[in-house]
Amino acid sequence: MKKNVLLCVTGGIAVFKAAALTSKLVQNGFNVKVAMTKSATEFVTPLTFQALSRDRVYTNTFEEADPTKISHIDVADWADIVMVAPATANIIGKVANGIADDMVSTVLLKTTAPVFIAPAMNVHMYEHPAVQKNMETLRSYGYSFVEPNEGYLACGYEGKGRMAEPEDLLLKIQHFFYKQTNAVWQGKKIIVTAGPTRENIDPVRFFTNRSSGKMGYAIAEEAATRGADVTLISGPTNLQPPNQVEFVSVESANDMYEAVMENFGDADIVIKAAAVADYRPKQTYDQKMKKREGEWTIEMERTADILKTMGEKRTHQTLVGFAAESENIEMYAKGKLEKKRVDMICANSITEPGSGFQGDTNELVLYKKTGDVIHIPMTQKVEAAKSILDATMNIHMERQQ
Ligand SMILES: Cc1cc2nc3c(=O)[nH]c(=O)nc-3n(C[C@H](O)[C@H](O)[C@H](O)COP(=O)(O)O)c2cc1C
Repeated sequence: MKKNVLLCVTGGIAVFKAAALTSKLVQNGFNVKVAMTKSATEFVTPLTFQALSRDRVYTNTFEEADPTKISHIDVADWADIVMVAPATANIIGKVANGIADDMVSTVLLKTTAPVFIAPAMNVHMYEHPAVQKNMETLRSYGYSFVEPNEGYLACGYEGKGRMAEPEDLLLKIQHFFYKQTNAVWQGKKIIVTAGPTRENIDPVRFFTNRSSGKMGYAIAEEAATRGADVTLISGPTNLQPPNQVEFVSVESANDMYEAVMENFGDADIVIKAAAVADYRPKQTYDQKMKKREGEWTIEMERTADILKTMGEKRTHQTLVGFAAESENIEMYAKGKLEKKRVDMICANSITEPGSGFQGDTNELVLYKKTGDVIHIPMTQKVEAAKSILDATMNIHMERQQ
């Protein structure tokens, strides 16, 4: 989901860098709204920020464009994060002392979102004991600072006071959301299944499928990176098990069934990306079958349906399955969602070039039980894994409410 960034711009030369930051935030998928002090508008006009953020710019507390809302309250509540950049000595002093006499200072006192402050000022202003004390006060209230850099200052001085570069501010914001997203994964128990299964006919021959395991391994690795406690149950693949996952190697559909069921009870989330055989030979020969005259008919029987069994046994677990179909994908995926009592089906078309088995890329459609549909355009499997995990965690959190 897109995150909302409120950029508060105050009056210093570095306002032009705030314009660059606005553009970068938009390009990186954030919703951006901008509030400016009157002094800030002396440096760059609100029109620049309006065009870059594609939204109105908040400059005047008493300009109520929408009579159904009080704009300073509305925009303060809208924000997931607030970045004050550049932050003057003046705004730092005002917020530290509870002064709310314009749009920016009023919003900053109102918001309950995390606030990052990027000071920009002359080195002597920055080092002034009053400014240092105000920053200390704000730190003690929970505000975060993005340290200014040392170097040439627009006023002609050399020293500390240059605002952090827009790229660094963007990174701070991205890192903040990354950490927030990851926090919900800490300690969650996740089972991921991956790869094909092998159904033996005799000691040399077996039935299998084209699954490479790449999608499941990517999901397991990403979940582990996010702090989850991951058990990866995998059929035979050529892949290296990711670090930090508990790896269980299995061969047949039956082995996979047993391994999944053993771990199912205390799992929070199960993501079944494995391509498990639906049928196995009814009879497995102990000795290699010799070549003979004529045809050889192998009778097949159904394997246990792991996803369906989990759907029946589930209590608190969130269940995600995969569907790889060559036709009528939507119909099969929705049918599977219903029949197997799972929360989401990740459907990929195995006939689409670049999608499905073996390759490094995939294009998927995620069908949720709630009726929501998420399209993941063709992308690297590691990227698709992130979207699948985000959607899975949303479901998991909704189920817990
Ligand atoms: C050319 C110029 C550059 C300025 N640069 C800064 C600056 O980088 N940092 C700062 O704290 N004040 C700077 N000021 C002074 C502020 O604009 C002034 O303190 C103003 O009252 C700040 O208002 P605001 O905090 O409401 O935006 C500058 C003023 C001028 C005229």
